[in-house]
Amino acid sequence: MERGHRLLLENARQAVLVSARGERFLARGAARGLAVLQDASLVVGADGFIKAIGPADVIQKEFSGETFEERIDCSGKCILPGLVDAHTHPVWAGERVHEFAMKLAGASYMDIHQAGGGINFTVERTGQASEEELFCSLQQRLRCMLSAGTTLVECKSGYGLALDAELKMLHVIERARRELPVGISATYCGAHSVPRGKTALEAADDIVNNHLPKLKELGRNGEIHVDNIDVFCEEGVFDLDSTRRILQSGREMGLQINFHGDELHPMKAAELGAELGARAVSHLEEVSDEGIAAMATAGCSAVLLPTTAYMLRLKQPRARRMLDEGVIVALGSDFNPNAYCFSMPVVMHLACVNMRMSMPEALAAATINAAYALGKSHTHGSLEVGKQGDFIIINASRWEHLIYQFGGHHELIEYVIVKGKVV
Ligand code: NIG
Ligand code: FE
Repeated sequence: MERGHRLLLENARQAVLVSARGERFLARGAARGLAVLQDASLVVGADGFIKAIGPADVIQKEFSGETFEERIDCSGKCILPGLVDAHTHPVWAGERVHEFAMKLAGASYMDIHQAGGGINFTVERTGQASEEELFCSLQQRLRCMLSAGTTLVECKSGYGLALDAELKMLHVIERARRELPVGISATYCGAHSVPRGKTALEAADDIVNNHLPKLKELGRNGEIHVDNIDVFCEEGVFDLDSTRRILQSGREMGLQINFHGDELHPMKAAELGAELGARAVSHLEEVSDEGIAAMATAGCSAVLLPTTAYMLRLKQPRARRMLDEGVIVALGSDFNPNAYCFSMPVVMHLACVNMRMSMPEALAAATINAAYALGKSHTHGSLEVGKQGDFIIINASRWEHLIYQFGGHHELIEYVIVKGKVV
């Protein structure tokens, strides 16, 4: 028997499709012409995927007499794709509000890291936390992200470092992937910092010889699913050669490369990302011109993190240059104990003001291009027939309010919908 359709979103003032011709990303100025429909309706099928989208009168005619489990009147409102957060560190214990005070008083990120604070502080506390504690805090954080409009989020491990502790984090991420409504792309980031008492070379050996084979085994058993591999490529952390070695091993076992580079010092990480066929390199405050050109040619996306540059008072990543050169620019919140921000609308706002992106560029970067960075833009990141039914509905007559407004988005974002269900 015909079950009818899952959801009808009716009479939206605007529906921001983002892309409309099956594009997997928007670059080379394409975001300037974001596809937007006026007076639109949208249908999600019983399978949770978009079945139809178009002018309200056309959809009404086409589906008259058909049944829907749920209907939402969107008069005066806007529908946008669910936001995609391409870079987060959401599993940890040990917040670092005390370090925020130190940074405000002038300490740099690396001063604190080298004094045993920073990532290593969080590693110690995360090591002591139980899987249940880590899951509860992750769940709370993912709920905050969802209510700010994020429906697909990359989640890194990386506060374990030792194999057991990394696996504990990945199990927590796996449980969230199975139990929570938000979409998750899981990243193994065992090379986030060099563990105490080891050199970077020893840590890289351990990762390649012990961590990655274990992940492969657990993946084969269906115990945990990991999508991406990450390394913090930085002076005093992992140099370019160790980074290359770890990422290549990850790639050989089928992981997508998506790593931290060129943040505090120029490392030629962008060039390495292009060489290795990385999906994405994040940060890039210190990227070279050659690195930008190489990324554009290779289709390696740049995940820019406006919260980090803001928090640490770094120089801004050169988003304009990247956009003008044809790099696929994506955005992430970088949620972590250093940059405590759940909100992609705030991230887009900062990207526009501080990195001089336009609002359409920022929205493309937080939807289709962020999905591309995670290898998911064939199913996520735009309102197109056949894609997953992930949306936000905002209570404003122009979609730009989502970026224009600085904070307090809970009033503005009226519905968050994943696979056609209000969450
Ligand atoms: O992307 N730079 C490395 N990793 C994180 C920070 C992690 C932390 O400080 O705990 C980042 O900003
Ligand atoms: Fe990060």
